[in-house]
Amino acid sequence: MCWLVALLIYQPKCMPSMRRVILILLWTTDLVQPKLPPAAEVQLLPPVNFTLTVSALAQVLLHWKPNPKQQQRNYTIRYDVKILSPVPEEYDTGRTYSIQAVALHNGFSACLRTLLLHDGLQLSSEWVKEELPPLPGAPETSATNLSCVTHLSTSSTVSLHCSWLPGPGAPEDTKYFLFYRYEMFTEECQDYIQDKWDRSIECRIPVTHIDAEGLDQLIVIHINGSSNCAAIKPFQQLFNQNAIERVNVPRNVSVVLEQNDLLATWEKPISPFPKECFEYEFYLFNWKSGNKQISKISSNSFRSSIDVTSRYSLRVRANHHICRPRGVWSDWSEILSVGQTKLEDPTVWILTVLCVSMCCAFLLAAVICKMNHLWSKLFPPIPTPSNKFRDPFSNIYERAQTCTSETETELGSLAEDLCCSALHDSVF
Ligand SMILES: *[C@@H]1O[C@H](CO)[C@@H](O)[C@H](O)[C@H]1NC(C)=O
Ligand SMILES: *[C@@H]1O[C@H](CO)[C@@H](O)[C@H](O)[C@H]1NC(C)=O
Ligand SMILES: *[C@@H]1O[C@H](CO)[C@@H](O)[C@H](O)[C@H]1NC(C)=O
Repeated sequence: MCWLVALLIYQPKCMPSMRRVILILLWTTDLVQPKLPPAAEVQLLPPVNFTLTVSALAQVLLHWKPNPKQQQRNYTIRYDVKILSPVPEEYDTGRTYSIQAVALHNGFSACLRTLLLHDGLQLSSEWVKEELPPLPGAPETSATNLSCVTHLSTSSTVSLHCSWLPGPGAPEDTKYFLFYRYEMFTEECQDYIQDKWDRSIECRIPVTHIDAEGLDQLIVIHINGSSNCAAIKPFQQLFNQNAIERVNVPRNVSVVLEQNDLLATWEKPISPFPKECFEYEFYLFNWKSGNKQISKISSNSFRSSIDVTSRYSLRVRANHHICRPRGVWSDWSEILSVGQTKLEDPTVWILTVLCVSMCCAFLLAAVICKMNHLWSKLFPPIPTPSNKFRDPFSNIYERAQTCTSETETELGSLAEDLCCSALHDSVF
């Protein structure tokens, strides 16, 4: 009977109906068990020796002891842990320690109290508080805008690539160092890429201890630094392994034309995730109309009826959104092209235009030459002295000319000229 009671009280979040059951059982056991004092009479004391210890990078161990002055009875004692900073959180535990993975560069503070559940009542002690100071360093010298991606290689190892910006207050001689922690492995980056002042701003770790099949594990990044002019404040950030995993490119992408259809197929990227986890983005470009089309696909193929007179370019990329909602899209696959008109290369275009215009110029030149030749054949120059026929118009012309020369000297006006010639014309 007694063990049953204890078991039921131990359930911290019993439903109200369950509590009623407990009370009835307590009442029935009253006759055989020594009576527990009423809850109000129990004095609840806070835990002692509450300590915070940094047990690994961005990991703090909260540890305490039950208050030795607390009456040792059959009560169920639990502890209420309230984290105040950097990220507020409250939970209760029956143990006397708790481990938290959290960025510690801005310090850490937490409160703790004893809880007692008895007679359907919850009693609590005073709070005790502990804190860790912020990591030392001058303000604004920390690395900022940190971003990381992981990548699974063909040899089933996971690489890590991070980049960041030097803090606005970081002196020009700042050297940054990046460390990552995955479970109990902590390692420093060996391969940095520098900015123009030789401050490292990027790091690649080709082979890490990150488990490709780990689910929702944390990757802790710690960046500290050194400078002769200032103390560089460290910076920490925690990443969910699956949220930053960059998916590999889909493999063996191929495309064929089947009558009026374009059929593209590909294989799942290298990944521990099964085929069903993947979603693809398929990009299709029509060279003739200039239309771009991006389709989301969950299968490993794409079929579409196309304009057979046009050329198409396509590429595909992958994500495992279906199994891990926050992953990073893969790179695009190599561009593949199918269809007829081959216009994609601008140099081909320029050469074509040049060639056509040169041909046209030649043709034009040839035509002009030919035309001149023909013209001279059709209308040979008229040798005036050998003109056998008297042209009546030439007569008029001659007279008109004489008239003109006469009137010009007299009146000097074109209007008069015309008038004059008209007059002469009408006369003859
Ligand atoms: C708490 O810490 C003090 C000093 O470190 C120690 O003497 C004492 O025994 C500890 N109390 C408990 C209950 O462990
Ligand atoms: C860096 O991060 C800050 C705040 O998160 C943002 O305002 C800023 O635009 C970022 N800088 C760059 C260069 O991305
Ligand atoms: C940077 O952090 C690592 C890991 O905590 C530590 O071993 C190293 O001494 C630190 N370096 C500097 C310059 O603070």
